[in-house]
Amino acid sequence: MANSDSTAATAVRVLLMVVPMLAGTASAQSQAPAQSDDVKAGQFIYERSCVNCHGPRGQGDGVAAPQLDPQPRDFTRGLFKFRTTPSGTMPTLDDLERTVTHGITGTAMNQWSELSAADQRDVLLYIQTFSRSGWKAGTPIVVPPEPAFTIESARRGVQAYALLQCAKCHGETGRGDGPSAADLKDSWERPIRPADLTIGSRYKRGSTPLDIYLTFFTGLMGTPMPSYAGTLQTPQDEWDLVHYVYALSQGRPVQ
Ligand code: HEC
Ligand code: HEC
Repeated sequence: MANSDSTAATAVRVLLMVVPMLAGTASAQSQAPAQSDDVKAGQFIYERSCVNCHGPRGQGDGVAAPQLDPQPRDFTRGLFKFRTTPSGTMPTLDDLERTVTHGITGTAMNQWSELSAADQRDVLLYIQTFSRSGWKAGTPIVVPPEPAFTIESARRGVQAYALLQCAKCHGETGRGDGPSAADLKDSWERPIRPADLTIGSRYKRGSTPLDIYLTFFTGLMGTPMPSYAGTLQTPQDEWDLVHYVYALSQGRPVQ
């Protein structure tokens, strides 16, 4: 009797565990507060296009995740790499849209150009519901106008690269082989390598001077790549450093 009782109890427990996994839809709905029609539409798209990697509850643990490096993003912690907003804040809908339309170079995160703009927006509103601390987008930074790229500007940037110790991770020549490179971990305690700055086509965000400025100024949250907001004195100093990294990314020696 006691035996069959506990067997039944175990069966129920197993069912309770399995059912929400199979029916991620129902459980996500019951956890979330009232959802708008857009969010519901987004959930439908998510379960068709994103769930295999990002997981039924957005924890980055979809069925394909174990095979991937880097792993799909866990959306529950609100840590996003590609923002126009300051470090410590969440991205805007436009930032997320850009990731979805461009994909993330060198990773399993594809471009989703086949999704209409409305579908993209809906799915992104849905992934925001996974964040445990709610969702509040930061205010985009104001990027100072870019002075023209010149070799002199890039050369001046070498000093800022040394001053801010970018070489600790990215190496003296930018190849991603600095003294700390082998020991870096991301916010999920997974090993992560600094980018090889000499190959612009592999930059995840992109390698235009504006892309590099945003990476430098806002950092890549969830990774050891910090934000350098306010570390240099003038916008010209900032752009000099950006121009140096840009020259590196194009394989153009400046010294
Ligand atoms: C084949 C696997 C895969 C699929 C499918 C996938 N992603 Fe991703 N996604 C990834 C990986 C891997 C990353 C992390 C890349 C990194 O950290 O460099 C990622 C990261 C992201 C990020 C984080 C961007 C940032 O700023 O940090 C967003 C947002 C995102 N995906 C949205 C989506 C949406 C929306 C869908 C469905 C339309 C989707 N993904 C489908 C693999 C996938
Ligand atoms: C503590 C280590 C560390 C330091 C110091 C550091 N970075 Fe990074 N950086 C990283 C890591 C790790 C990545 C890769 C993140 C990823 O792949 O998600 C990265 C990526 C980048 C990227 C590529 C972004 C992309 O789109 O793929 C650029 C550009 C960059 N760093 C510039 C700099 C500059 C300039 C400095 C100095 C002002 C600097 N980094 C200092 C760790 C560091």
